[in-house]
Amino acid sequence: MSLLGRTAYHALRRLGYELMSAGDYGRLRQEIEQLEHDRRELMAQVAGDYQVVMEYHEKKAAFRDAEPAFHALYERVAPFTMTSIERLYALYKAVEYVSKAEIPGDIVECGVWRGGSMMLAALVLAKLGDTKRRLWLYDTFEGLPKPDPGKDVDMWGNSQFNEWVKYRRSDESSELAYVPVEEVRRNMLSAGYPPEKVELVKGMVQRTIPAQHPREIALLRLDTDWYDSAVCELHHLYPRIAEGGVLIVDDYGHLQGQRQAIDEYFAAGDDFPLLQRIDYSGRLVIKRSRGQGARAKTAAGSAAE
Ligand SMILES: C[S@@+](CC[C@H](N)C(=O)[O-])C[C@H]1O[C@@H](n2cnc3c(N)ncnc32)[C@H](O)[C@@H]1O
Repeated sequence: MSLLGRTAYHALRRLGYELMSAGDYGRLRQEIEQLEHDRRELMAQVAGDYQVVMEYHEKKAAFRDAEPAFHALYERVAPFTMTSIERLYALYKAVEYVSKAEIPGDIVECGVWRGGSMMLAALVLAKLGDTKRRLWLYDTFEGLPKPDPGKDVDMWGNSQFNEWVKYRRSDESSELAYVPVEEVRRNMLSAGYPPEKVELVKGMVQRTIPAQHPREIALLRLDTDWYDSAVCELHHLYPRIAEGGVLIVDDYGHLQGQRQAIDEYFAAGDDFPLLQRIDYSGRLVIKRSRGQGARAKTAAGSAAE
């Protein structure tokens, strides 16, 4: 239910209780009749407007169309992630897909906060008995670093620097999204995935990824928010995604720097991937083939470095 819907619902409940405890059943009946009348009027107004009807069904379904198994895992990981239920569902299905379709490679997330998204990946893999893959979690584990004041702007035009600077610890750390590596390790351990298969790589991705990365990736999730880190992640990691592997981008619709990095990367190549919308912010790509474009060849060359 939307915030507006919830507020209206609670206001009506309160009114109902008040009228009932005052024994004012005549007024209560009137209010109910009025509401029923308004509802019928509203339905008549939108009849034939399938956009409104679909929106209504979407809200009413409230994700009940998803598998019960997803809901159980969602409840388990929701306190450990900032992403939406839509993005978590996309990740859930993507992990299931790479496992069942036997897409080779590791699972990688850049920008993990408390680790909730990777806990979900670990739980799905463990459930499927697919525990040979390595899970890579890249983060400063010291909060968000300095954004670019010009590029890292949200969809409403707010420069992220103005907020970040209030929480600054250094240019490479802040109180924003600060979660120590030990806490994330504990969270990951609780997911029951073999601990020796979980790599927590601490530091700025601009330094850690070029030095330490998987040879092959089945699923890559990008969520470090800022332009610079996204450029680095795409350059080093996208070419390592296996054919049929998945890229999930968080904040594409929310942060202009993240969108710019993705758009520039794909505009410079010849892959023309389908950036499938997950929700207003998330996007998903299934990589078609490894032999795509000059960039892929360059990366294949540098894989031997
Ligand atoms: C939005 S949070 C990630 C949310 C997480 N994926 C989830 O599921 O809740 C962004 C994370 O990116 C990390 N981060 C941002 N820039 C980084 C960089 N350049 N290098 C390493 N980590 C970075 C922050 O420390 C923070 O934990």
